[in-house]
Formats: sequence, structure tokens, C-alpha cells
Amino acid sequence: MLPCQRHLFDIPEDVAYLNCAYMSPLMRPVIEAGNVALARKAHPWELTPDQFFTGSEEFRATAARLLDAPADCVAIVSSASYGIATATRNLPVSKGQSILVLEEQFPSNYYAWQRLADEHGAALKIVVWPDDGDWTAAVLNSVTADVAIAALPHVQWTSGGTLDLVRIGDACRKIGAALVLDLTQSLGALPFSVREVQPDFAVAANYKWLMGPYTTGLLYVAPKWHGGRPLEENWIQRENARDFASLILYTDKYDEGARRFDMGERSNFALLPAATRAIKQLLEWGVAEISETAGTLNRQLAAAAAEVGFSSPPEDLRAPHYLCLRRKAGILEELPDILARQKVFVSVRGSSVRVTPHVYNSATDGDRLIACLRQIAGG
Ligand SMILES: Cc1ncc(COP(=O)(O)O)c(C=O)c1O
Repeated sequence: MLPCQRHLFDIPEDVAYLNCAYMSPLMRPVIEAGNVALARKAHPWELTPDQFFTGSEEFRATAARLLDAPADCVAIVSSASYGIATATRNLPVSKGQSILVLEEQFPSNYYAWQRLADEHGAALKIVVWPDDGDWTAAVLNSVTADVAIAALPHVQWTSGGTLDLVRIGDACRKIGAALVLDLTQSLGALPFSVREVQPDFAVAANYKWLMGPYTTGLLYVAPKWHGGRPLEENWIQRENARDFASLILYTDKYDEGARRFDMGERSNFALLPAATRAIKQLLEWGVAEISETAGTLNRQLAAAAAEVGFSSPPEDLRAPHYLCLRRKAGILEELPDILARQKVFVSVRGSSVRVTPHVYNSATDGDRLIACLRQIAGG
């Protein structure tokens, strides 16, 4: 377990921020990297053509380490929805087939599939929230011959339930279904390996568990799709991009690997260095250690919350970093505002109070949340 890392963050003592799934705070070293990066454009004459590539390649290589994938398989994107749109543009589906999603799946990993299904006469097949909380078993039961694409998360975002992606990946390969993953609520906080899961596409927005700036993200693309069609056609994805003087010698050839799927202006001088710095810190801490640290706090919180009437999924079925508390009497919609007045920050998603700590939290933050919940429960 990691010692509390609050000194690296600008979080006042009286703030109990338990809401990383909403948006992580930027670390001081990440802000420093971002400030330096933003200021570079004050002197554009110092920005050399090779810098359009070096920063992007550093981000790609760093993200690849986190994914346990080759750097060549990583594209730089703006958002989860950009990555999902890239997958929908490339994956075939035909009339009568289905696309598998979970009940209450995040909209960025839902609407695009709904549209794709509508356009091809396919069906969206929705895995219903299982009574026993076992999302893996529910998904495995639904991976049948009709499924062309399984579009899933690693953690179901309103329950905190985890999916065993190794087993699900295996089941998809057996029937020839593509596997597309939205790792936005898990990558960086829950161990994940492309080599073990073997997805076709996997995307994560950077601003939550990757602790980076908003509007940056990463997309894994399996080698079998490297000949695919990007969402945008831009100059920097092409093979001749490094030679600025010859850009108008148009070429059909793209740069190598997943680079063709990079978003326009992917060099993103202001934000990418901050995103890279954040992921480097996660790698230094270790994802398993982050998971254990957040998980230990959540385990204590789950036990204390149970005493004041809030239940949570069994520990073996939920992600350690992601605790969703429910109550028979329901959750007041205004609960986050009531807590925020006491400087305790959580979210309500669906019918759960979502508690998502990170390495900057201490047991004191947890105690303050429980004191508030006890007050609300009238105990
Ligand atoms: C599971 C999940 N995916 C994706 C996102 C963000 O999507 P996008 O990057 O398309 O805004 C969120 C934000 O809350 C999320 O919870």
C-alpha cells in the first residue's frame, strides 16, 4: 500500500475529495509540466518541426507501458467518444447480428453503437444488471453466436462492478466477435494488460484515473486493424509528414501502426506533456499499488457505511477503487450538494453514491464521509 501522496496535490486540509471518477485533481508536477508546455507557444520560433513528433511519441510510449502494449498500437485521441467512433467506423456488423453493451453503460460507449446497429439492421443486446452483481457471468451468458461486437467497460460505472476481461476476451475470440473497451473508469487504477485481454480497440479518456488534462486520451488499436480508416484525414498521419516542405506531394501512405488514427493536431503542445507526466507518475507508483491503496480505504468505508444503512456490492465483484453505495430508502438527489457544503465530495450516479478515492486520500477523509452519511441516515 502506498503512503498518502497528498503533498503532491493542491488539496486543502479541509477538503475530502473522494471523487476521482468524476475528475482527478492535477498533481503539482503535472501542473508544472503543463505550464512549461503552454508557455512554449509564447516563442513559436523555438518550436522546431521535430517537436511535432517527439512529444507525441513520448506520450504514445508512456501510454503503451500502462496498457502493456507496443507503442505502435497506441493512437492519440481527444476523448473516449473519439476512440469509440474510430472503432465503429472500422468494425463490420451485418443485419441480424447484435452489438453487446451493458445496462446503464456510459453514453459515450452506447450512442455510437446504437447508431451503428440502426444503420446496419443489427440489434443492440443489453446485458441486464444482474441481481447477484456478477457482471462477468451475465456477459459470458450473452456472448452468443449472434454477437458481432462486444462494447464493454472494465468497470460498470454506476455499480462499480468489474468484468473479468480475460475470460470475456476469450469468449469473444471463440465466436469471432470483436471486443471494444472503454477503460476510462479503470485504466491507471485497475491492472490491465492488452496482451492478456487482446481487445480489438480500447480507449481511455485521460482526465479521471490517468490524472491528466481534459480533452486528451489514448486509443489502443490491435495490429489487425492498422490498415483501417481513420475518422479524420490530416497531414500528420501521413508517411511524409516529417518533411514540412513536401507536404503537398500528397501520398496515399499513412505513418506506421495506429498513428493513422491520431486526431488532428495530436501534437497538442500545451496538454500532452502534462498527460505524459501524469502517466509516468502512475507507473512509478504502480497500478497494483494504487488499486490496493484506494481499495483499502474503500473496504473500510464499505464496512462503516453498512453500519449506517448503505450497502455495496460484494468485494470480489467490485473494482477496489470504485465503491457504489446504495440504500433501501433511496439516495437523495441533493446528497452531493449537502456533502459539498461540508467539503466532502462524492457523486451520485444512477441510484448509487459513488465514492472513488485515490492516493491523496487518508482515513480522515473517509471518516468525514461516514460522519455525514450517519447524519443523513439520522443515526
Ligand atoms: C465510463 C466513462 N467513459 C467515458 C467517459 C467520458 O467520455 P468522453 O471522453 O467521451 O467525454 C466517462 C465520463 O464520465 C465515463 O464515466
